[in-house]
Amino acid sequence: MPDGAASSTVIPAACAAGVRSGRHVAIIMDGNGRWAQRRGLPRLAGHRAGLEAVRRIVELCPEFGIDTLTLFAFSTENWRRPPEEVRGLMALFRRYLRKEAAELADKGVRVRFIGDRTQLDIDIQQLMAGLEARTADCRRYDLVLAVNYGGRAEIAAAARRLAREVAEGLRSPDTIDEAAISGGMQIADLPDPDLVIRTSGEQRISNFLLWQCAYAEFVFAEECWPDFDRDALERAMRAFGARERRFGAVVG
Ligand code: IPE
Ligand code: IPE
Ligand code: MG
Repeated sequence: MPDGAASSTVIPAACAAGVRSGRHVAIIMDGNGRWAQRRGLPRLAGHRAGLEAVRRIVELCPEFGIDTLTLFAFSTENWRRPPEEVRGLMALFRRYLRKEAAELADKGVRVRFIGDRTQLDIDIQQLMAGLEARTADCRRYDLVLAVNYGGRAEIAAAARRLAREVAEGLRSPDTIDEAAISGGMQIADLPDPDLVIRTSGEQRISNFLLWQCAYAEFVFAEECWPDFDRDALERAMRAFGARERRFGAVVG
């Protein structure tokens, strides 16, 4: 634990006492390609290094009082990349699912996925379902992996489901309120993110959790994702701790 961290808002007292804080941090893991290119390496080497950063940050959640960590791994737009990069990313994802399953379960991490998994290779879909089943009863903290995920696609799917229920006479249009749409999101019990971190200096949302980010705080870190380490996470959490969240109200 770094000097002074325990007494700051970085590590809440509830966490130190072993109580779940409910805090949700979501990360747009960006900059793998640039990290590699700057080192004269192929982009896939950046993705490989990015996977190490995933392992590192997942480990750190309990210490930082993070109850839910959502990682944006592959967007609905990332299919536009060269086929060999997409293949490489899928191979890494497959390897992660195979290699990390036992450790995640041992650590008490409940793993869930958001995004349209039906477009992924069938063996990957099976590994995903297996990991979800294996960790379903884990309660220490939640890891949500966004794979083939798009915020607009998720909202459109929720709208379709609600429209179908209206068409089938199961609900009246008047019942479609914010709670109904929230309930139509892929993981309805997922709290909205408190903090969204995007690495690599880019400052945009790129179709991530559009509905859920209504009142999220944003921290844009300069590090490329493979360089995102304990210190970088601590800086982001400190920046978040210094924010005054108002939710439209007047504070103080
Ligand atoms: C993030 O790094 C990983 C994915 C989007 C899958 P990038 O691959 O986007 O890296 P840059 O932005 O090109 O540097
Ligand atoms: C967002 O990064 C998607 C992920 C991190 C998985 P991108 O690199 O794909 O986003 P853009 O294209 O720069 O907006
Ligand atoms: Mg990028």
